[in-house]
Amino acid sequence: MALPRVLSVIGAGQMGIGIALVASLRAKIPTVLLYDRDPSQITKGLEFMDKLLAKDVSKGKTSEEDAKAAREKIISITSSSASSSTLNIDEFGWARELGERGSDMVVEAASERLSIKEGIFRALAKNLSKDAVLASNTSSISITKLAGAAVEGLGSSINKASEEGKSCAGRVVGVHFFNPVPVMKLCEVIPGLQTSETTLERAKAFAVACGKEVSTSKDVPGFVSNALLMPFLNEAIMCLESGTATRDDIDKTLRLGMGHPMGPLQLGDIFIGLDTCLAIQETLYEGTHDSKYRPSVLLGRMVDAGWLGKKSGKGFYEY
Ligand code: 3HC
Repeated sequence: MALPRVLSVIGAGQMGIGIALVASLRAKIPTVLLYDRDPSQITKGLEFMDKLLAKDVSKGKTSEEDAKAAREKIISITSSSASSSTLNIDEFGWARELGERGSDMVVEAASERLSIKEGIFRALAKNLSKDAVLASNTSSISITKLAGAAVEGLGSSINKASEEGKSCAGRVVGVHFFNPVPVMKLCEVIPGLQTSETTLERAKAFAVACGKEVSTSKDVPGFVSNALLMPFLNEAIMCLESGTATRDDIDKTLRLGMGHPMGPLQLGDIFIGLDTCLAIQETLYEGTHDSKYRPSVLLGRMVDAGWLGKKSGKGFYEY
């Protein structure tokens, strides 16, 4: 199955940077466009990528030439004009640019908010080639819903059930990577109701080329991974909230008693972010109305306080 020649990654946060890196270094995609509407996020993200590459070179895991080649293929794009938190379709000059530069696959790795992702998918469908794969790295949001937004991007005259609507929705798929992307060995691939077989195969081939094993999940809230992980993290937070055990003892129990590489509170703090944990749990709860997914009050309060984990300097731990 053909790999993309020009991959666009949307969002230069930890996930976007990791995906751009493995796509360039491991999958050897010839051109990787990295878009973020915040230029400082691009600068910070690329500095982090440079550190990861330098570490790989110093450990002999990557040659200096390969690291240099991987880095040179990454072109950053930003739109300093955008300022609102919900993107507006009329402001999507950036999507036109990704289209004009010939993107034949996109991986969206923006914030875990439905309105933001829907806006992006509308813009992508409107501006990219009619055979580009439109993939999302969402942790929990419905791929079927994002495919619906993509079809809306074609204009109000296009019916979702028409041939054109079905063909556009058929190009939307979930490719869910795990943080840190260069290290974690899995990519969960999620077909929506309308995803075509070809799109699914292209998404899997891309993930494998990036050095990942693939698992497939149906398009249910949280997919397999977060339908399992989030109740576990939430239960750990509820144990802390109810005073069942201290923060350190909760994490120690899972690390030393069950062999987890890190405790759940540390994992939420460092590799997910507590705002993202809450957003995923809300999607799970709203999507199923099942009380087992109800986010703990403490998690909501911590996000209200701006204690988002390592990225904000404080979560369950201080950084
Ligand atoms: N970015 C890139 N690489 C990193 C990293 C980071 N943030 N943190 C650590 N690494 C690398 C190190 O550089 C090292 O690489 P090397 O082998 O080339 O030297 C390797 O990871 C191992 O690191 P360490 O030896 O320092 O530390 P550990 O042995 O403790 O391993 C870990 C670190 C692999 C991150 C391990 O703690 C772990 O597996 N933790 C759990 C991570 C996890 O569960 N991630 C999934 C989160 S859920 C998610 O992403 C989905 C979303 O939808 C919620």
